[in-house]
Amino acid sequence: MIAPGDAVRVSVPATSANLGPGFDSLGLALDLYDEYRAEVTAQPGVVVESVGHGADSLPTDGDHLVARSLLAALDRFGVSQPPGLRLRCENVIPQSRGLGSSAAAIVGGVLLGAELAGAADPSALVALASEIEGHPDNVAAALLGGLTVSWTEDDGAGRAIGLEVLPQVTPVVFVPETSSPTAAARQALPESVTHRDAAFNAGRSALMVAALTRDPGLLVPASDDRLHQRQRRSTYPDSLRLVEELRVAGWAAAISGAGPTVLVLTHRAEDAAAVARHEVPGFRPWVMRVGRGGLATRIGDTRS
Ligand code: HSE
Repeated sequence: MIAPGDAVRVSVPATSANLGPGFDSLGLALDLYDEYRAEVTAQPGVVVESVGHGADSLPTDGDHLVARSLLAALDRFGVSQPPGLRLRCENVIPQSRGLGSSAAAIVGGVLLGAELAGAADPSALVALASEIEGHPDNVAAALLGGLTVSWTEDDGAGRAIGLEVLPQVTPVVFVPETSSPTAAARQALPESVTHRDAAFNAGRSALMVAALTRDPGLLVPASDDRLHQRQRRSTYPDSLRLVEELRVAGWAAAISGAGPTVLVLTHRAEDAAAVARHEVPGFRPWVMRVGRGGLATRIGDTRS
């Protein structure tokens, strides 16, 4: 039972999906967080106030992705819909850049709804957030933090396991000025791939898990891909050129998620600084750290 005056807030990290070979399965949380706050109101209807990225273009009513995800979570956890809701979203994660801003909104809404409903089963949260997003890799990392391996069960449910990344691993991202929608990048994928390429990616994907958790000296071979990056070149030509240049120079570069941000995984402080010194017109280099998972806190409670 939730009532007017109940309020929760959550912070949710940006994420980088795929990490090169792990298409729709590997994800990494980055230490850049959106903050969302929800309050149950007696006034009927949903009102959303957004600040930061996308503030001028995002819906201000129940169509907002955080609101939809919150209401879906209440529904999933058997809690009746509130009379009204007021949401405030502070959007720090750049949008439509391959840094998981929509996954953050979904995970934020799901965590807010779960906190209001008193539900806490992480696997139910991964399954619901994956269902809303359509693939589990970003939402898994946004929920669990660190490195995640996610997969989809035969019944369609998203699942994930979280792994701790070696502390010396430092992600650097090159965020472009231009955006590119994930839907277009997914449409550019071919229907089928060769057995040789599938085998290549299976090996590199497993190697990436080993590189991030055991031996970061393997990050360069571990970040190579043959399944999706070249196939989507037309949606992010400048980004793929940058990936190729950085890889020739010896860095573990890949497209971040569906692009167009470029991710470089480094494991020595001087390397992160050296990568970030690359001046690339149209891109902003940004040294990050691995992030923690989304965290919801109750800030108002009428139950007592
Ligand atoms: N794995 C997804 C893709 C990530 O590459 O399409 C989207 O952020």
